[in-house]
Amino acid sequence: MDTLADQALPEDQVGLLEGLMTTRAIRRYVDEPIPPAALRAMLFAATRAPSGSNRQPFRFIVLTDGPRAREAKRLIGSVARALWASKRKADGYDEGSGAEADSPKARMAQTMAHYVDNFERVPALVLPCFVRYRAPSTFEGASIYPAVQNLLLAARALGYGGVITGFHGGVNDELKALLEIPENTIIAATVTLGRPVGHHGPVRRRPMSELVFEESWGEVPDWAVDPPGTRHTSAGPPQGRR
Ligand SMILES: Cc1cc2nc3c(=O)[nH]c(=O)nc-3n(C[C@H](O)[C@H](O)[C@H](O)COP(=O)(O)O)c2cc1C
Repeated sequence: MDTLADQALPEDQVGLLEGLMTTRAIRRYVDEPIPPAALRAMLFAATRAPSGSNRQPFRFIVLTDGPRAREAKRLIGSVARALWASKRKADGYDEGSGAEADSPKARMAQTMAHYVDNFERVPALVLPCFVRYRAPSTFEGASIYPAVQNLLLAARALGYGGVITGFHGGVNDELKALLEIPENTIIAATVTLGRPVGHHGPVRRRPMSELVFEESWGEVPDWAVDPPGTRHTSAGPPQGRR
């Protein structure tokens, strides 16, 4: 019988550039497991990421439906619900346009509420970990987050979706004990993956001309023009307050 080891990876469903520009945060998933062949392709892509000196300090714990997976989802789910409840209040998600059921703010709040309330049902939870090999530095993330983005892009390539979150932060010690993560290793993110409910679509960001400079800070190159039809958003903290 053909085993996975004999099989090539599945075909991409989307070209690279289009995939890059349509890899949105996906927080609603169809309630079905991700087949091993798809997990394999996503994690293979993640493990092909670059790192300093090609040291490959990234490791990935994939949690689907085993007993520890269920416990990890429960731990992270309870933190996620508490974090979202306080963010919802602090950021006024139910005030202003948030009071209108169909406003972007209200829809975001509904998506977040659905996400955290159903956290235990996410098809796959992946904890990308970083094996620290020298004193902590502000640059060490550069050897783990490209791999995390590869994971999301590979998911997109196969018709899946996911989101990076920081939810593990509140239960770091519990997760490390549960999953037997070594002392010198940090959990770098909490990523959930699954088949999206709804469609992929172009991400919205600020115009390129606000973000790309040439020669010196603030000098916008002539070529920094967004393609036709690009839609923008300046959501997030106002500039200058980051
Ligand atoms: C470093 C980082 C931390 C994030 N933390 C969270 C989080 O804790 N919870 C969450 O729901 N989304 C989280 N996100 C997802 C962002 O909210 C999302 O990528 C951003 O709003 C852009 O959304 P879009 O790609 O759908 O346009 C995080 C993303 C990054 C890169």
